[in-house]
Amino acid sequence: MSNALINTPIDASVVERIIKSKLEQSGKEKIGFASIRELVRLVNEVEKETGDKYIRMEMGVPGLPPAQVGIEGEINALKSGVASQYPMIEGVDILKKEISQFVKNFINIEVDENNCLPTVGSMQGAFASFLVSCRRDVKKDTTLFIDPGFPVQKMQHDVLGLKYETFDVYNYRGDKLKAKLESFLEKGNISTILYSNPNNPSWICFTEKELQIIGELATKFDVIVMEDLAYFAMDFRKDLSKPGVAPYQASVAKYTDNYILLISSSKAFSYAGQRIGMMVISNELFKRQYPDLKRFFNTDGFGYSMIYGALYSLSSGTSHSAQYGLAAILKATNSGDFNFVESVKEYGERAKLMKKIFTDNGFHIVYDMDEDEPLADGFYFTFAYPGIDGVELLEKMLYYGISAISLATTGSERIEGLRACVSQIKRSQLKDLEFRLKTFNEHNS
Ligand SMILES: Cc1ncc(COP(=O)(O)O)c(C=O)c1O
Repeated sequence: MSNALINTPIDASVVERIIKSKLEQSGKEKIGFASIRELVRLVNEVEKETGDKYIRMEMGVPGLPPAQVGIEGEINALKSGVASQYPMIEGVDILKKEISQFVKNFINIEVDENNCLPTVGSMQGAFASFLVSCRRDVKKDTTLFIDPGFPVQKMQHDVLGLKYETFDVYNYRGDKLKAKLESFLEKGNISTILYSNPNNPSWICFTEKELQIIGELATKFDVIVMEDLAYFAMDFRKDLSKPGVAPYQASVAKYTDNYILLISSSKAFSYAGQRIGMMVISNELFKRQYPDLKRFFNTDGFGYSMIYGALYSLSSGTSHSAQYGLAAILKATNSGDFNFVESVKEYGERAKLMKKIFTDNGFHIVYDMDEDEPLADGFYFTFAYPGIDGVELLEKMLYYGISAISLATTGSERIEGLRACVSQIKRSQLKDLEFRLKTFNEHNS
């Protein structure tokens, strides 16, 4: 054990031993390469053994209570007997109608309710979309990830045996994005472009100019954009909370017809446990026909393959009661009775306080600008410490009772950085955070 680690806030001998045993079990070279779930496990064990609580920033789970109206909707549905019935794969009518209304109210786009589908979380929505979108044209067999990104979607590619290419958007913001995207699209092998917005892990939000570039190139090269809106309306710099009133959630849907939107209810409605999300396919894309789909599905219709091929074979639809729960949430949201943005704004306020504690103690924010505008405060932020790379930093911080994930696992080139998720941190822990970062800074500067 190095001298610097002797007076760490968490008993260094315990941390060191548990890290060692995890490395042995996983075969990983360094704990900084661990997946989110592996880190969760490790920190649980250290907490249990030492009795100390960590500042847990490794996992993106909602830290707020679920939308109550959804729970009541589900209970009522269960009492009415839906549990014994298979749900329609394309979703129950009342939910489809509310999803269509929701995207009209909060993105200002028109999508037929037929093309609004429930999925078992956006996780399944992405998997199903890959099954169809990435196999619709024999020549287009590769996904382009605009990174940094959510590592599980790359894992889904690996599981499916699909190819992907990626680039870190950090150095290609604004006008520079066009040439960079063209350099990939011109090759003719890209089927799908995927990014999240606001972005997990960096919390960058694409500007209208950037979305326009993405949308116009998607049309030009006939590529499908999968826009992952897992953090819907959580760019708190603008008030996106009023149904039918501008400003709206920024979306590529304004600039191309080649889109699939994945809207998760996990974070916006704190509904992660019920595993329900929304897949919204543009009216034009839904009805398109791709002969190459017949290699995998018994139809060439894009929307038809999605429902009766992909979603059918994955899970035969989405839990019946969860559909009614989400329908109730959306109904209250669409009518203005429930302001879902207000209920999650706490994340932005927390991030602002936490970022200041980091920057006051020798750290800096890695992704910090959206073109010429400072980044929003939200669910995640990224940080680094001078002279220490991200993988090493992650390990070091474990001795100081702080857990995060390395940006190296997200396709980011900013490998000096870590991602912090603010959702599980209580305001009462901020004093601890301050003390631990101060101590870290004293030991390492
Ligand atoms: C960018 C992104 N996409 C998708 C998901 C998964 O969403 P869901 O819980 O709806 O499956 C997450 C969850 O963390 C995410 O961060």
